Amino acid sequence: MSNRHDKGFETICLHGGHKEESNRAHLTPIYATSTYTFDSAEQAVNIFKGNEQGYVYGRFGSPTINEVEEKIALLEAYGLSNMNGEPLELKAILHASGMAAATTMLLSNLKAGEKLITHYSLYGGTQELLDKILPDLGIEAVIVDFHDPKAVEDAIKADDAINLMYIETPANPTLQCIDIAELSTLGKSYGLVVCADNTFATPYLQQPFKYDVDYVMHSTTKFLNGHGTAVGGILIGRDLEKMNTVVTKKHRLLGANSNSFEAFLLNNGLKTFPLRMDKHCSNAEKVAEFLSQHPAIKKVNYLGLESHPDHHIAMAQMKHAGALMSFELKGGYDAGLSFINKLQLCTSAVSLGTPDTLVSHPASTTHVGVKPEDRIKFGITDGLIRLSVGIENINDIIEDLNQALTN
Ligand SMILES: Cc1ncc(COP(=O)(O)O)c(C=O)c1O
Repeated sequence: MSNRHDKGFETICLHGGHKEESNRAHLTPIYATSTYTFDSAEQAVNIFKGNEQGYVYGRFGSPTINEVEEKIALLEAYGLSNMNGEPLELKAILHASGMAAATTMLLSNLKAGEKLITHYSLYGGTQELLDKILPDLGIEAVIVDFHDPKAVEDAIKADDAINLMYIETPANPTLQCIDIAELSTLGKSYGLVVCADNTFATPYLQQPFKYDVDYVMHSTTKFLNGHGTAVGGILIGRDLEKMNTVVTKKHRLLGANSNSFEAFLLNNGLKTFPLRMDKHCSNAEKVAEFLSQHPAIKKVNYLGLESHPDHHIAMAQMKHAGALMSFELKGGYDAGLSFINKLQLCTSAVSLGTPDTLVSHPASTTHVGVKPEDRIKFGITDGLIRLSVGIENINDIIEDLNQALTN
């Protein structure tokens, strides 16, 4: 693409990051090689010194990986400007998983004795990382209700060790929404590094860099790949110098890299990303409407419904309420399992953002490692079902949900 910043979002999804191949392959091939050759010993010296760009080793990257990194950086920066009014430049690094991306970000910005401030309810794996891995490294998480900015400010003021703010919005699986502008401004005013997990919304619906955050991360396993074919994660940063040095070093030395095959699948998935998202979102709206009127259901958490306590936040910072929702069955735990067993079309599986509708029971799966008392505090009740609405014909999705709720 000639001028990357003057193209539309859909065009970037197709062409962003692409460079002409030496053999004129239409698609950037899957570079199945662990290492790269040098023209001369001098060239190796130059590449290692950083005086010349070049591929070195599979753990450091490949042309297939590089293309998708550049594409996602362009999507997160789409339409945004830096302080000088120029198009915002971001750097993205592809990881083996969303968890690997979060780990690189946290370990690049926190050391022993330092703390992060975050909220409930986070994705279960992230919560476990904070509870079970970081404390052994001397890093602690302070958990505060991010709907209460005064409490957040008091906590930051009370503890000089807090250096980083971690936001996940919308959050998994209650669809709690955090006001990114408000929290990021607060965090930055105390010099904190701010990171947002944008997995649920994706850059199509929400761009946290608009609100000055330092990092955005994703589990690319979800809507970005969009086909459920590969696990992956991406970390995108605005401080290019830091991304190219400290963060790149952590990514490489932790062995957090992805690989060319999975990068190829992600890149291919991204080509239809806006089309898929439109359909996911319009189907979700109709499913939420149906569920909210069903007598077997106590409560529906969908950001598009005015009844969701964070509806106003979502509508202010997202283009659409998205394709995720959760709902509580009147019958609790047993009703939850029985509902899932009766489904004939929708798939019972963890994960989200695949083209088909996925249904899961967080209390017994994704959040089983979270302490029961925390689960209740975070709104993850025993009867809660999470739904990632797919792109099937809407009548078929509703018919299946209806028969599983009614029979
Ligand atoms: C919001 C969110 N963040 C991070 C992750 C972790 O991503 P991965 O499973 O790719 O490591 C997930 C996984 O479900 C998620 O839902």
